[in-house]
Amino acid sequence: MAVLYSEAEREMDCPKEVVIWNYFDHEHVVGTHYKNYSQVKVLAEEDGWCLVDRAYKLPVINFKTSSVGFMHLIDPHHIKSYQMGKMGLLLDQDIYFEDLPNDRCRVKGTYRMEVPPGFGLLQPLWEKITKRWFDLTWDEDAPMRLRRWKVWKLGFRDFRGIPYINEKKAKPNIPPRPYPVELPTPKITPIKGQGVSRIFEKSDEVGYSRGDG
Ligand SMILES: [Fe+2]
Repeated sequence: MAVLYSEAEREMDCPKEVVIWNYFDHEHVVGTHYKNYSQVKVLAEEDGWCLVDRAYKLPVINFKTSSVGFMHLIDPHHIKSYQMGKMGLLLDQDIYFEDLPNDRCRVKGTYRMEVPPGFGLLQPLWEKITKRWFDLTWDEDAPMRLRRWKVWKLGFRDFRGIPYINEKKAKPNIPPRPYPVELPTPKITPIKGQGVSRIFEKSDEVGYSRGDG
C-alpha cells in the first residue's frame, strides 16, 4: 500500500476548549459550512466520542461524496478521527491542540490515507485538497469560535444567554472562568436520528441568512 499524508496548522485567538467544542458541534456544519456540506446525521455519541454520517463536496476536484466518521477526544490536546469513505478508503486524521499565552491556541491537523500501490502519485493533489479543506472550514469556523469565546467571557450559557443583558442591568464584574469541555453538545435539531440537511446552497451570509446571492 502507498500512503498519502499531509498536515496543516493555524493559530486561533481563543482557548483550545472552544475549538474542541466547535469540532463536536455538528449542528453548525450544514449551516456554517453549507458550501461543502449537504447532510449530517449523528448516529451515536457519548461523552468524548461520536459517530457521524456526513455528505459533502470535496474542494479542488468538486467531488460529491460521503463518509461515516468516528471522532474521539483522547485528551484535551488530541482528537482522533477515522472516516470511512464510499470507496472503502479510510481517512486517518489527528487534530492536536497546543495552549498558547493569552488564551490562544495552535491547532494542527494531519490527514493520512492508505491507498492501493501506484496511487501514491496523488500526493500533490492530496496535499492541495486537504490543506484547502482545512483552510476553508477554518475560515468559516473562526468567527463562530471567536464569538463564542467573547460571549462566554460575558457570562453566556447555552440556551440561557447572558444574564445581565437578559435582565437589562449594567454589566457586572465578571470573574474569568475557564471554558469547559462538555460533551456531547446539547442539540436543538433532529440531527441525532433523522439528521439535518442544508436549507440553501447559496447565501450572502455564512450560514445565517437565506438568500440567492
Ligand atoms: Fe465547523
